[in-house]
Amino acid sequence: MQKIQIFYDAKQQLFHLSNSKASYIMELQEGTWLLHRYWGARLSAYHGSNRPKAVKRTFAASLTPENPAFSLEIEPQEFSCPQQGDYREPSLSVRRTDGYLSGRMQYQGYEITDTLHIPEGLPHIRPMENKGAKSLSVHFQDVSSHVSLTLHYSILEDSAAIIRSASVTNTGDSPVYVERALSALMDMAYGKEQLAVFYGTHQKEFQLSRQDIGHGVTSIGSTRGASSPQYPPFAALCAPEATEHTGEVRAFHLIYSGNHCVRAERDQYDHLRLAIGIHPENFRWKLLPGESFQTPQAVLVYSSQGFNGMSQEFHKLYTNRLFPRQWAKRIRPILLNSWEMCYFDVSEEKMLQAIEKAASLGFELVVLDDGWFWHRNNSKSSLGDWQADPEKFPHGLNPLLECAKSHGIQFGVWFEPEMISPDSALMRAHPDWCAQIPGYAPLLGRNQLVLDLTRKEIQDYVLGILSSFLESCPVSYVKWDMNRHITDPGSLSLPKDRTGEFYHRYMLGLYHILGNLTERFPEVLFENCSSGGGRFDAGMGFYMPQTWCSDNTDAYDRQAIQYGASYLFPPSAITAHVSAAPNHQTGRQIPLAARAAVASSANMGYEWNILELPLEEQKQILAHLSEYKAERALIYEGKFYRLRSPFTDGGCAWMAVDAERTRAIIYYFVKEYDTSVLSYLLKIPYLDPQKTYAEKVTGRRFTGEELRYAGIALLPVLGDYPVIKLELRAEARSICQGTAP
Ligand code: GLA
Repeated sequence: MQKIQIFYDAKQQLFHLSNSKASYIMELQEGTWLLHRYWGARLSAYHGSNRPKAVKRTFAASLTPENPAFSLEIEPQEFSCPQQGDYREPSLSVRRTDGYLSGRMQYQGYEITDTLHIPEGLPHIRPMENKGAKSLSVHFQDVSSHVSLTLHYSILEDSAAIIRSASVTNTGDSPVYVERALSALMDMAYGKEQLAVFYGTHQKEFQLSRQDIGHGVTSIGSTRGASSPQYPPFAALCAPEATEHTGEVRAFHLIYSGNHCVRAERDQYDHLRLAIGIHPENFRWKLLPGESFQTPQAVLVYSSQGFNGMSQEFHKLYTNRLFPRQWAKRIRPILLNSWEMCYFDVSEEKMLQAIEKAASLGFELVVLDDGWFWHRNNSKSSLGDWQADPEKFPHGLNPLLECAKSHGIQFGVWFEPEMISPDSALMRAHPDWCAQIPGYAPLLGRNQLVLDLTRKEIQDYVLGILSSFLESCPVSYVKWDMNRHITDPGSLSLPKDRTGEFYHRYMLGLYHILGNLTERFPEVLFENCSSGGGRFDAGMGFYMPQTWCSDNTDAYDRQAIQYGASYLFPPSAITAHVSAAPNHQTGRQIPLAARAAVASSANMGYEWNILELPLEEQKQILAHLSEYKAERALIYEGKFYRLRSPFTDGGCAWMAVDAERTRAIIYYFVKEYDTSVLSYLLKIPYLDPQKTYAEKVTGRRFTGEELRYAGIALLPVLGDYPVIKLELRAEARSICQGTAP
């Protein structure tokens, strides 16, 4: 692989970041303004061939009398401040001590280091000992106020990604206020790209939307205090002709779990601007003299091989450098979760039976979900009172742990540590501990309030509760849930000139807790959850290697949800459970084969009352678990490719293939049997064209080239929600000369 380079060409005043896959190029105009020139496939050299011509335009403010055609309204930039004649959406807005906005940032210098820039207190891409990284920091200073800005760029030896962030510093002797500090902004002249984002809701996460970008600003974001299922912090600019397999895609993903925004703007010259970062609404950060504000990192991924190419980069980067190291490549236990099995109606007796039965069927972990703690019989009470309910668990949880151990399996529990129920001992002891705005009664969501994690003593309390629980009841797994969004972003401890800091301070508080806890208990597997995928983002991924991606366990709806989540996350990070039929959320009757196939395509578990199943179904579960155990290395260690989109192709297909492309499992899902379809044709572009593959069930043999270009015809299966599974293995002997013309 080509080594990474960050090179400053003093003659052309160019910064050029490159590795074997990509180049990112910026130009310093007149020693002052940093302009974007190129981001795409690697260039070995750049001489300004695509530099837009500066043309004098009426209404365009010029920055230098000698060069009236040069205006920031026209130039593609790397960041943007107000009041410099660039009327597009800015990325930085800092209010000076005198009440005006700071807006004349001038270049001061740069540094190049052989390390990865790490934003303090925030989740981030991790350095790796044996893989190189380089960072460029470019410094700017406001010409009249004491505000400085540094743009950070990191490039890695083992990834096409560029990691960007920014920091703002108060260099004066009185406070300033940061009102907007986005992580990355980038302008593309000539951009005809479309915008791909996700939208969704509870039980319908990661729905893909792809649209032309009209004039004006198209924006998505979250002001809910969580990255949200509504609009996760991701956007991709793609060539109109880009597909899953081909074409250019430039993707942006924020490593952050709180309020965020993505702005895509098409301006008067048809240029495109894309900016991503913390949402400026209700954000205002006071900076005392000498203090800095550091933005979260934005991961920028360039792919010339469509959306699958983009996903391969995210999967590899997040596996190698985001998820906790000790878990990232480890196969996770197959779990049985109690939620859809018995909801709040859990008890020692039921769980002991469940553990015994689960162990006999081949499960490796039993998880006691909601309902296990102090008087928690529904969602109306008890969050905060984290002791085992004396009626349901008169001997505490340790007997369950012992029972699991004696059956050779693990045991885990559910927590929702960021919350407090009004009806709880914790609330009665600390009525001031919930997030609240003076004069307003805080609004309830799922009958609960949010703990004010901006406060140190509350962070310590949560950390203390979880730590002492894990010490006295050493479970192997914790499901960390967060089941409502924030409506009252206030803290009784924040002074009035810092109320705009609540949301980000909340995130810093949460990250502080998670960082400490996961460091202290590295062998506990933490699963991220927020009513399913309500906070399924790279920020949480830094602490927790897997996420419950939806409360919707319906295998048909799940195809779209998991398909969308796979844009960013590898199968190991997406947990998927087999549940009852009819499904509890949708009432659909989906055959076990399809329910098992959808869950088996990811980090698989069950939540189903296995205690009340007929013997036949128990046998099927036993068989499914042993099949998954035989196949899961491919799911965890192989590459995951999407082949047919539930959003546009009227069906869904994906595959897992090992690194050598010698073994592949493909699932092809359709909604119902269609009498007019004689056979389905599936093209598989990710096999080795030189290899010969044998299909397991029929024994038929094909070349990889044939499967790639001619495709394979698949016979429809009768019934509703059928699934076709193909298993291909490369063979040592080759076929084929005989069929050549
Ligand atoms: C959320 C989770 C579920 C379950 C319930 C318990 O909705 O997503 O899986 O844990 O909370 O209340």
